[in-house]
Amino acid sequence: MAQLWGGRFAEETDAFAYQFQASISFDRRLLLQDIEGSIAHAVMLGRQHILSEEEKDEIVKGLAGIREDAEKGTLQITDEYEDIHSFVEAVLISRIGDAGKKLHTGRSRNDQVALDMKLYVRAEIARTESLLINLLRTLLTMMEEHLDTYMPGFTHLQKAQPVTLAHHLGAYFEMFRRDLLRMKDIYRRMNYCPLGSGALAGTTYPLDRGYTSALLGFEGPTLNSMDAVSDRDYLIEYLSAAAIVMMHLSRFSEEIIIWNSNEYQFVEIADAYSTGSSIMPQKKNPDIAELVRGKTGRVYGALMSLLTTMKGIPLAYNKDMQEDKELTFDAIDTLRGCLTLFCGMLKTMRFRRDVMEASAANGFTNATDAADYLVGKGVPFRDAHSIIGRLVLYCIDKGSCIDALSLEELKEISPVFEEDIYDAVSLKTCVEKRLTIGAPGQEAMKRVIQINKKFLQEELQKEKERISRGE
Ligand code: ARG
Repeated sequence: MAQLWGGRFAEETDAFAYQFQASISFDRRLLLQDIEGSIAHAVMLGRQHILSEEEKDEIVKGLAGIREDAEKGTLQITDEYEDIHSFVEAVLISRIGDAGKKLHTGRSRNDQVALDMKLYVRAEIARTESLLINLLRTLLTMMEEHLDTYMPGFTHLQKAQPVTLAHHLGAYFEMFRRDLLRMKDIYRRMNYCPLGSGALAGTTYPLDRGYTSALLGFEGPTLNSMDAVSDRDYLIEYLSAAAIVMMHLSRFSEEIIIWNSNEYQFVEIADAYSTGSSIMPQKKNPDIAELVRGKTGRVYGALMSLLTTMKGIPLAYNKDMQEDKELTFDAIDTLRGCLTLFCGMLKTMRFRRDVMEASAANGFTNATDAADYLVGKGVPFRDAHSIIGRLVLYCIDKGSCIDALSLEELKEISPVFEEDIYDAVSLKTCVEKRLTIGAPGQEAMKRVIQINKKFLQEELQKEKERISRGE
């Protein structure tokens, strides 16, 4: 046991209790953030003459050395320390001596951990944004390729009306675009620095909180020290946005699993993203899509878990909050893995245009258009609906479809039918006549693609600028 707080204690902590409350096994992930925050804190202490120039320099050099060794892999984080903060401080003191003991002046582990976690998650939000942009680019390219790949659109998983693959993929584009914007909102709202809040009530040292905040790339310091050390809203927001991304990925995965099934055969998932069976030689299973669907539960679980942890915590810091880490890290890993693999799977998936189109051509996806045709000839819609209903029943009996019937057969059901019915209910007409913005007709889709292209270009530009700022 190597803790920072032995002075007040007369007896040893129970070994299991100590181990139970220690967080080093998982907060070791925050090593780089802890060092970055500590350097900023020390630089500020020096500038405020709370540390001498030499002490500040020694500390900053010492911390940079620890970071370098950690990055090289020559520094092992050992479990004898309670948490990553104690570890860094202890290594620093062992390396530079007394100056190291001054680093914690005007700071508490409460504002320290609040900062470390914010730095970690802030960088992760930026990474999630990049992954989402990548997915959106992939989708947009596919949309451009499939403007005239006809397929059935479904409601209740029953064939409804024909659409195009571009249009279907475009629906997911919209979802992931909203996800990206959600991430950006969260980033903006969370980007305030808790450092300098101390344990809960600030400190008596003349800290320059604005300066540390600027050094660490925050918009400004947080404005209430009790809130700053106990705010986990941004984690809940991130987990909630991550849960929504997972929900979208899961819906898409479900469709891909259906499309890839023997019955549908709309797509073939590449070998690289499928696995086989140990007993059935013919099998090629869509494991990645299934796992993305399955792992959605983990991320929902993290969100529910943290919401529940936070709901009864009085101000300010309480140890319950340490529970925020493992589940957030797990959700982060899950989301990152799923977004990366899903995008790879999508890029390499083969779409069977012929099968999709044949499927769109049967199943009466043109029934609405047939009714609209009658409306165009002056039949009230309710009557047209009933006439086409009878027509569909007739076709089902005959094992046929509307456009395969002869004009005589059609006229028997309604004399209003003319030769132009065949063109009116062809697959192409059914799709291409739908031209209001947001509809699948090619001209409408092209306008949407243009809008989305501009959106993506702007986002890519912002991403470039962010990377060049080193954020
Ligand atoms: N490991 C702790 C956490 O993650 C760090 C803060 C400890 N603060 C304290 N007062 N024990 O929340």
